[in-house]
Amino acid sequence: MTDHDFITGLPKAELHLHIEGSLEPELMFALAERNRITIPFATVEAVRAAYDFSNLQDFLDIYYAGANVLQTEQDFRDLAVAYFDRAAADGVVHAEIMFDPQTHTDRGIAFGTVIAGLLAGMADAETRHSMTSKLIMSFLRHLDEEAAFATLAAAEPWLDRIDAVGLDSSELGHPPEKFARVFAAARGKGLRLVAHAGEEGPPDYVRQALDLLDIDRLDHGNRSLEDPVLTARLARIGMTLTVCPLSNLKLCVVRDMAEHPIDRMLKAGLRATINSDDPAYFGGYIADNYRAVAMARGLDRNDLALLARNSFLGSFLPDDVVAKHL
Ligand code: ADE
Ligand code: ZN
Repeated sequence: MTDHDFITGLPKAELHLHIEGSLEPELMFALAERNRITIPFATVEAVRAAYDFSNLQDFLDIYYAGANVLQTEQDFRDLAVAYFDRAAADGVVHAEIMFDPQTHTDRGIAFGTVIAGLLAGMADAETRHSMTSKLIMSFLRHLDEEAAFATLAAAEPWLDRIDAVGLDSSELGHPPEKFARVFAAARGKGLRLVAHAGEEGPPDYVRQALDLLDIDRLDHGNRSLEDPVLTARLARIGMTLTVCPLSNLKLCVVRDMAEHPIDRMLKAGLRATINSDDPAYFGGYIADNYRAVAMARGLDRNDLALLARNSFLGSFLPDDVVAKHL
């Protein structure tokens, strides 16, 4: 069996995926036409050519603009169905997907429109691919605490369909401490907690995510490695890191895939996983991410199997279901 087929065939969970980041340019154009929205690009190729980022903010500006074409429940369903189809082809059997309600509610789209469409896509994935999935509602950290509380309130009727809250968007200047109270409120409602930290932000933001947000899972976490005490702590408590290699490359978190720290993370005893983050913008889905780091860092099949195993251990599936996947 080729390495390519081994990676595709490895059953895996995807734990770090922004559904808005799976909007492929072809679907962007189709939705723009369907909803009579003008986008500042003439062709699909022109859109792809614009995906050249120097940092996280560069990407976010384009990512939020792209999301404007999403208007109706059907749009969100189509977006989710396209992602799940692609993920199934890559051997994903369980996906915990993030969505950013504020990206949509702030431009007048109802919370219910967004979530009803995504839930319909999730039901379709279960029917057609036997793929299970969970929803993570992410707060935009460049907005204030009050806006995050308003989002949590808007989610109230849907809380039985949301497994976790997350924290994403512009990291630098927006430390986890800003959201300590809203995360505590989410915990009080029985939700799991995840947060992006240590993507561009310093190790102290990771420490804050642990100490002030009480996270169950760490999104990215790359810069934790700059602090050996923090790294040892993450290993000791068995914290799952949702690492996104192609994202790291495209957003200049690493200069070259040959410098990616995935194997250093595993050697340090961290429960690292591989994920695609925003695959339509970063040039690859989950199997492409496995392949890119495997090639660049010389990972063998045992390493790849460990990464896939970690994805189930780090999921929010119940223990008996996790055990069936191991
Ligand atoms: N939103 C979508 N992708 C993100 C990332 N990689 N970091 C922070 N916020 C995001
Ligand atoms: Zn992310």
